[in-house]
Amino acid sequence: MRQAFLLAALFALSLATSVAAEELGASSPKFWSVPQVDALPYDAHSRLIRHGRDLITATYSHIGPDMPDRAQRFAGNNLACGNCHLDAGVKKFGLPIFGLSEDFPAYSARVGAQITLQERINSCMTRSMNGRPLPVSSAPMRAIVAYIQFLSSGVRKGEKLSGLGAGTMPELDRAADPARGHDIYQARCIGCHNVDGAGVQNSLPGLGAGYAFPPLWGSDSFNDGAGMARLITAANFIHSNMPDGVDYLHPRLSPEEAWDVAALMISKPRPQRAGLDKDFPDLLKKPIDAPYGPYADGFSEAQHRYGPYGPIRAKLQEIEKEKGEVRNPNVK
Ligand code: HEC
Ligand code: HEC
Repeated sequence: MRQAFLLAALFALSLATSVAAEELGASSPKFWSVPQVDALPYDAHSRLIRHGRDLITATYSHIGPDMPDRAQRFAGNNLACGNCHLDAGVKKFGLPIFGLSEDFPAYSARVGAQITLQERINSCMTRSMNGRPLPVSSAPMRAIVAYIQFLSSGVRKGEKLSGLGAGTMPELDRAADPARGHDIYQARCIGCHNVDGAGVQNSLPGLGAGYAFPPLWGSDSFNDGAGMARLITAANFIHSNMPDGVDYLHPRLSPEEAWDVAALMISKPRPQRAGLDKDFPDLLKKPIDAPYGPYADGFSEAQHRYGPYGPIRAKLQEIEKEKGEVRNPNVK
């Protein structure tokens, strides 16, 4: 009896979570073949690539805020790039940095101009890592670029790999709700990300050893200008990848749970970046979930932060039509 109930519950759960997975799965083959760093010889260029991978997976040990040599302190928190760019940047819908280098220089709506790969990396340095930019010719920057370029070997210019980003799931027609998210956090996240989202350090604090489970908010987290501070990015990342070990084909949270727990995360305090009002000089190209104004559409900051997004999109389309503008590629 109990077993039958469990089976029924499991079946219902899998129905609830399989929709988005199927949508993604249809457009994305399950595997992609990734160039193998471990298969490289030990020549100078390969060492640079390996060093680049180490910088992604253990950023704090090379350019973290606890580096003994102050000149090497570039990141402002003890995260690793790989805490978000999962499996050293090669996991499907785990924000891969695989097959990218040919895409740069690329137009950045945030800047309102073309940016180089180095500038894109520095955008994560100053926002996700809450730190300062790496000089273009510095050793760590050259290593990270060499690694990202290596991950692009064999990918043709203009080829769009499926599996980039964090995925897309159906949106809610209500605002995502931090209070519901709190209950989900207690049930599904707290075991790893700890009370108060503080994470669990690898070793004693102050040794530059990073996190076994990274913080989700608070002073050692990404700042409010980071991509992960935006609801749509955060919710899809969480749905495709969390609890850790999940992949986009086997999500364990329903879309609704992912939206609400993402709302909780972005409602919490984190370092603040100055000058965010200058991001996205063309407001019509501003992502709909940017949690800071100004906006082109007259909707409140709260609605941009938590949704629902339907009404904002409709309004933006109206404005664009009046202006005869092309449709905003950032408003998904
Ligand atoms: C807190 C999470 C987080 C951390 C830590 C982080 N990033 Fe990112 N990164 C993101 C997100 C989210 C995006 C996509 C942003 C968007 O939607 O525009 C991104 C985008 C990028 C891109 C562009 C990818 C593309 O598809 O064009 C590169 C390159 C990159 N990051 C490199 C890095 C490097 C190198 C580090 C470490 C120095 C780092 N990131 C740390 C979250 C993070
Ligand atoms: C089994 C442990 C575990 C559970 C449970 C878990 N996470 Fe994570 N989470 C991790 C680990 C480990 C990473 C870093 C991944 C890496 O470095 O490969 C991570 C990374 C993240 C990140 C990106 C990095 C950062 O610091 O922002 C977010 C966001 C996140 N988790 C949210 C959640 C949410 C929300 C839940 C609950 C639904 C959750 N996680 C449940 C282990 C877990």
